[in-house]
Amino acid sequence: MPDMLVKLYDLPPIGEVEREMAEKNIVIRKPIGPENYYVMNWITEHFSRTWASEAENAFFNNPKTIYIACREGNDGKNKMLGFACYDATVRGFFGPTGVAEDERRQGIGRALLIYSLYGLRDLGYGYAIIGSPGPIDFYKKSCGATVIEGSEPGVYKGMFYS
Ligand SMILES: CC(C)(COP(=O)(O)OP(=O)(O)OC[C@H]1O[C@@H](n2cnc3c(N)ncnc32)[C@H](O)[C@@H]1OP(=O)(O)O)[C@@H](O)C(=O)NCCC(=O)NCCS
Repeated sequence: MPDMLVKLYDLPPIGEVEREMAEKNIVIRKPIGPENYYVMNWITEHFSRTWASEAENAFFNNPKTIYIACREGNDGKNKMLGFACYDATVRGFFGPTGVAEDERRQGIGRALLIYSLYGLRDLGYGYAIIGSPGPIDFYKKSCGATVIEGSEPGVYKGMFYS
């Protein structure tokens, strides 16, 4: 899977994304210290330990480079819906990211992506790289990302998975 390139000077307005999430009662925010184990366990259960390892790097960056999506459930408890990381494995990279299977196709993945891309822009980057992206069409559609020719397997070459 080749990497993708995103222009951080040409992002969709964040205000629209914020409004869309607010209308759906979804909060996109950075997790705080006491939530570390909860967030990493959630990522492991829904995706993999490999992604939780990357997310933990993002969690311990200062400032944190991980966002989570949450919604208050009928029982009054917050439910985690998804996560996205940047500057986690390699500087200037977006990912990993994931949304719970039963919460997909509501704009949550795109919102997490756009928040993270603004996060990278605020750190001073002009472009972001989406490392080994998986759903290429999701990234093309959500942020105009383009495929970087000849970038496979890129920085992940020879990596151990768990
Ligand atoms: C990829 C993923 C994060 C998308 O999350 P999501 O919340 O379902 O995405 P959104 O609802 O924000 O989708 C935004 C747009 O992309 C489209 N889209 C979503 N997933 C897509 C996919 N896999 N392929 C193509 N288009 C996709 C949506 O239809 C939507 O288009 P629209 O605005 O025209 O309706 C989610 O499918 C997921 O967790 N996948 C498994 C993990 C993964 O592959 N992560 C990425 C690799 S790091």
